[in-house]
Amino acid sequence: MGARRIVEGVYAVGAIDWDRRLFDELIPLPDGTSYNSYLVVGSEATALIDTVDPEKMDELMAHLDEVGVERIDYIVTNHTEQDHSGGIMDILGRYPDAVVVTNAKCMGLSVDHLHIPGERFKVIQDGDTLSLGDRTLEFMISPWVHWPETQMTYIQEDGILFSCDFLGSHLATSDLFSNDWNAVYPAAKRYYAEIMMPFKHLIPKYLERIDGLDVNYIGPSHGPVHNEPSRILDAYKDWTSPDVTNEAIVAYVSMHDSTRRMAEHLTEALTDRGVKAKMYNLTVTDIGDLAMETVDAATIVLATPTVLTGAHPTAVYTAYLINALKPKTRYMGLIGSFGWGSKVVDQMTSLLGNMKAEMLEPVLVKGLPRDEDYKALDDLADAIAQRHREIGILEE
Ligand code: FEO
Repeated sequence: MGARRIVEGVYAVGAIDWDRRLFDELIPLPDGTSYNSYLVVGSEATALIDTVDPEKMDELMAHLDEVGVERIDYIVTNHTEQDHSGGIMDILGRYPDAVVVTNAKCMGLSVDHLHIPGERFKVIQDGDTLSLGDRTLEFMISPWVHWPETQMTYIQEDGILFSCDFLGSHLATSDLFSNDWNAVYPAAKRYYAEIMMPFKHLIPKYLERIDGLDVNYIGPSHGPVHNEPSRILDAYKDWTSPDVTNEAIVAYVSMHDSTRRMAEHLTEALTDRGVKAKMYNLTVTDIGDLAMETVDAATIVLATPTVLTGAHPTAVYTAYLINALKPKTRYMGLIGSFGWGSKVVDQMTSLLGNMKAEMLEPVLVKGLPRDEDYKALDDLADAIAQRHREIGILEE
């Protein structure tokens, strides 16, 4: 793709990874990703903001050559994780006078994770500035979006905020800017769900702080640069708000069709009552799609058969992930069929300890569901619809 100019003297020099389909051996990347690195050329000094995944360092080096960078004075690292900082040692090898600039926590983690010698660092505090001559970098330490050491870097004169993972998206695109919002919005929402949602209670204070700046561009470390920053900031305000939507996710796995029949009946019963319901067969569902749905759905119902007295492992995995991602779900249900006995309710309840949602009365049935079991599912649908009416997301 080559190096690309954001404004005069500020370049995107990172790499696009069109082929990557999994991150952390966990997160599906249906649209690939990018590792964004930015070069800021001042009248007195030059800074590189983050590097790229080690696999893509050749591209970063080629982009630096293309811009004609002879000297890098500072490597600002906003986050230790290897997809952004894994190339720092290579940059230090090529630019031996460069100084790594970051906060103390990030320095400590970078020494441990990347074996960068401690003497190569300049440690900054929150609010510190670093002059590049006619450009000034300002540092905002922002723990837990999404590691304890994360920070953002702001060019005061240009109003460009480099937000690292925060406000990013796993999206490989040739677009430098996020003009194709219909493509960027779902990618950013999925990214929020998978990476940032566990920390949603901390995010509003960072959004407020960004609102206090004069921001023209937000350059995250993944996905395109936001040239209309209000779009991504407003989306984050929406996702982190307490508001939920009149939606119920029915996530199921079924072995002999009994649990699937229950999930389908419940989905139809919810639809009849005006609740937007969506079934997900967990054996074929992209877990990122499901995570994205949990961002604002009011209700999640997990449907599982019983295997060896417990939930199906696929349902266990899903419950574990939902619990880890901590969506703002208000109501949760549990349904399913068992063969001769089940400890599913106790097991799944214990797996969902982080969830603040109200747990509705479970519906567990022995074998193939009968009329009275479908009636119990209707009652569960009634309870969900009633809850949605009570919080004002479903009309009376
Ligand atoms: Fe994109 Fe937390 O690394």
